[in-house]
Amino acid sequence: MNSHPALPFLLLFSASLLYSGNGGKVLIFPVDGSHWINMKILLEALHSQGHQITLLRSSTSWYVSEFSPYYTSITISTNQLQHFESQAAMTSLLKQSMKIRRNQGSLWTFFEFYRNGADFFREGHKNMAKLIVSILENKTLLSQLNETGYDLFLTDPTFPGGVMVAHYLKLPLVFNVRWILSGEAHFAIAPSPLSYIPVMLSRFTDKMNYFQRTKNLIYYVMLVYMSHYVCNPPYQAVCDQYFGKNVSILSLIQAADLWLMRVDFTFELPRPTMPNVIYIGGFQGKPSKPLPSYLEEFVQNSGEHGVIVMTLGTLLSNLGSEVSEIIASAFAKLPQKVVWRHIGKRPDTLGNNTMLVEWLPQNDLIGHPKTKVFVTHGGTNGIYEAIYHAVPVLGIPLIFDQYDNMVRLKARGVAEIVEVATMNVESLTSALKNMLDPEKPYKQNMIKLSQLHHDKPIKPIDNAVFWMEYVMRHKGAAHLRTESYKLPWYAYYCLDVIAFIVAVTLLIVALISVSCRCYINYLLKWKKFKFE
Ligand SMILES: *[C@@H]1O[C@H](CO)[C@@H](O)[C@H](O)[C@H]1NC(C)=O
Ligand SMILES: *[C@@H]1O[C@H](CO)[C@@H](O)[C@H](O)[C@H]1NC(C)=O
Ligand SMILES: *[C@@H]1O[C@H](CO)[C@@H](O)[C@H](O)[C@H]1NC(C)=O
Ligand SMILES: *[C@@H]1O[C@H](CO)[C@@H](O)[C@H](O)[C@H]1NC(C)=O
Repeated sequence: MNSHPALPFLLLFSASLLYSGNGGKVLIFPVDGSHWINMKILLEALHSQGHQITLLRSSTSWYVSEFSPYYTSITISTNQLQHFESQAAMTSLLKQSMKIRRNQGSLWTFFEFYRNGADFFREGHKNMAKLIVSILENKTLLSQLNETGYDLFLTDPTFPGGVMVAHYLKLPLVFNVRWILSGEAHFAIAPSPLSYIPVMLSRFTDKMNYFQRTKNLIYYVMLVYMSHYVCNPPYQAVCDQYFGKNVSILSLIQAADLWLMRVDFTFELPRPTMPNVIYIGGFQGKPSKPLPSYLEEFVQNSGEHGVIVMTLGTLLSNLGSEVSEIIASAFAKLPQKVVWRHIGKRPDTLGNNTMLVEWLPQNDLIGHPKTKVFVTHGGTNGIYEAIYHAVPVLGIPLIFDQYDNMVRLKARGVAEIVEVATMNVESLTSALKNMLDPEKPYKQNMIKLSQLHHDKPIKPIDNAVFWMEYVMRHKGAAHLRTESYKLPWYAYYCLDVIAFIVAVTLLIVALISVSCRCYINYLLKWKKFKFE
């Protein structure tokens, strides 16, 4: 084709016109590891709308690359690895939690479980706070950021360092969020009755009996304890130093303009919410693309039996050889073909129906018509892809929210759970055969769930972009935010009002009873006097 020599320049020119028309400047502070995967999707969507993106990253980051066509990065030099990107920290957490789960049921296990989690998060939050101090100490960087005049600050408050930078720069703040310091993010801003809202790590659904509700309350107390004594202190120290004693990290989080919640109620349990919460669960969903030829050939060879896809996430792939052998043997007993994302030693019992890969095009494989079951650790990225493509899930949950996620899916009748600490070849094989049984309703239920998930007026990712642009256009969304977080706890529950009403009532009752007694005494005396 012979194009006019000026065409590229014209295109460039019109692109820049378009850009100055509706492009905003967005500053992003991501969390590393698997959280980066979903931040990246939002970032690319923003970029495709002509917004200009700047990203703050730590110099030790593995996932967040310094150079990208989508953003310009500012690298904060540090020698500390941020926690979610540290393979060593993850592996050690996983090892500990497997050990604990083998001895499940004792009180010791209960505390050991939380102590283990606390150790992991304490280190993580300390490192994050240090990173923020190096930002707040760098006046050149701060004034450079301030002068740029960003329209929006986007961050993930799982590690809420970005919140403080946004507060310092006084920028409209939007969260890409599901978790905060003390568990599920709704708990920070929306009423959350513990009678029907299971807390993180409880493994309950919204139907709890008396003992489960008791346990739910105990788990909640543990989370509150963790957030006050483990997660909060490093950030509070930074707040105290840079913003004054009366600014708490929690109130900075609660003051965010908009919460893009990675939640969809086809999968999550219904609960009270707030006007500034926008649900974007499933925003990663997209049609599958053709597979690379070596995979396509393998998948087609499965014939009528179909394919099982297995992956255990970004940082948890290597479970140790004992578990790998169990999984490999179970797969070898099936007529299906298996694509298994596995890192580490090749299991000896691996069947010839199983292909090991170090990386797999997850969405394309799950979306392949031959795929029958998705075997996963229960991270939400994979779960939403399974819902999108209507593929039943077998969960082998490992840590964090994964068990809770699987419990929710199981309650919808589209999944089963295998306990990794106690599974053996027989139990895993029978769980897989059960899921693959065409008589069982898993597939039908999943098709129904998938239809519900797709039936929306606007795609979740477009919704996310709309609301971010909304915040840019209106320089915040304070009118959607309740003022509840500024209230002291006794005012929040109206305890001061109740106390006053109770006091007045008691006073009146006391007055009445005293005056009655006086009157009766008077009458009695009068009677005595009369009849004497
Ligand atoms: C402060 O930030 C600037 C700009 O990003 C950078 O060039 C400089 O190295 C930073 N200084 C320190 C001490 O980290
Ligand atoms: C940012 O710059 C404005 C002027 O452009 C100035 O008034 C303000 O104090 C600066 N804020 C910070 C936090 O440096
Ligand atoms: C904190 O105190 C400072 C001065 O003492 C005041 O200007 C500021 O508004 C207070 N902030 C909050 C959140 O109460
Ligand atoms: C795979 O292994 C089974 C039994 O171990 C054998 O019967 C079958 O022929 C093998 N298939 C291929 C393609 O090698």
